[in-house]
Amino acid sequence: MKTIILLGAPGAGKGTIAEGIRSVSPFLHVSTGDMLREAVKNGTAVGRQAESYMKRGELVPDNVIIGIVGERLAQGARDAAYMFDGFPRTLEQARLLDETLTGHDSKVDKVFLLDAPRELLISRLTGRRVCRKCGQGYHLINIPPKCVGVCDICGGELYQRADDSEATILNRLEVYTRQTESLITYYQDKGILIHVDASRQRGETVAEILRVAKPLVGT
Ligand code: AP5
Repeated sequence: MKTIILLGAPGAGKGTIAEGIRSVSPFLHVSTGDMLREAVKNGTAVGRQAESYMKRGELVPDNVIIGIVGERLAQGARDAAYMFDGFPRTLEQARLLDETLTGHDSKVDKVFLLDAPRELLISRLTGRRVCRKCGQGYHLINIPPKCVGVCDICGGELYQRADDSEATILNRLEVYTRQTESLITYYQDKGILIHVDASRQRGETVAEILRVAKPLVGT
């Protein structure tokens, strides 16, 4: 099993970069944010537990997150390659991930920290639009759809995420500083953290990460 993590503040581009990597490599994209939004949409028990935290931009409790990630890993092949986006987000989640991977005779191989300035994070999040049908992401200015409000791929309606209001964005950035930034030191101390400039064109960021990640999976 191989594991890489995309770490970074809300709006750093984790989901966008993950899709770029997934499309040209064997890495499976595991986004806890996407899994939770799906659970909320389907009204599952996890979704009901998570919804109010997500609306406020707070983190969903660790036990809920560990549960859904554990289930996801249990479904995968033993030699699968995983790319986590938005997970782990607390030291507790990072430690439990390490324990789980140790149980599979594995470990986190590399952590890519997507760096971008705060003003850019805010403008990326306020301009983000997502397809209701297929989940494809857009940005009103950076990555606009060909036709306003319509997905290029499936023709679905584009919408703004409930947590992309300005007030919630500011809270999410504050929560990142308070609860997630400590992971930078955690992975730095293990010698597996790589800083990546995420303020560039997405293709450049994807290419830089692939140079390190592809050899892990022998491609
Ligand atoms: P989650 O969905 O993980 O949100 P996030 O971390 O806040 O990150 P975002 O998805 O907002 O941003 P991103 O970095 O993926 O940026 P994107 O690529 O979309 O989590 C949502 C919520 O779920 C959390 O607040 C929490 O409540 C809960 N949750 C999730 N995981 C959890 C966990 N492990 N523990 C506890 N709670 C958890 O890009 C943003 C925009 O910028 C897009 O419009 C994109 O088109 C544009 N863009 C991106 N890159 C570029 C580029 N290079 N150039 C131009 N535009 C770009």
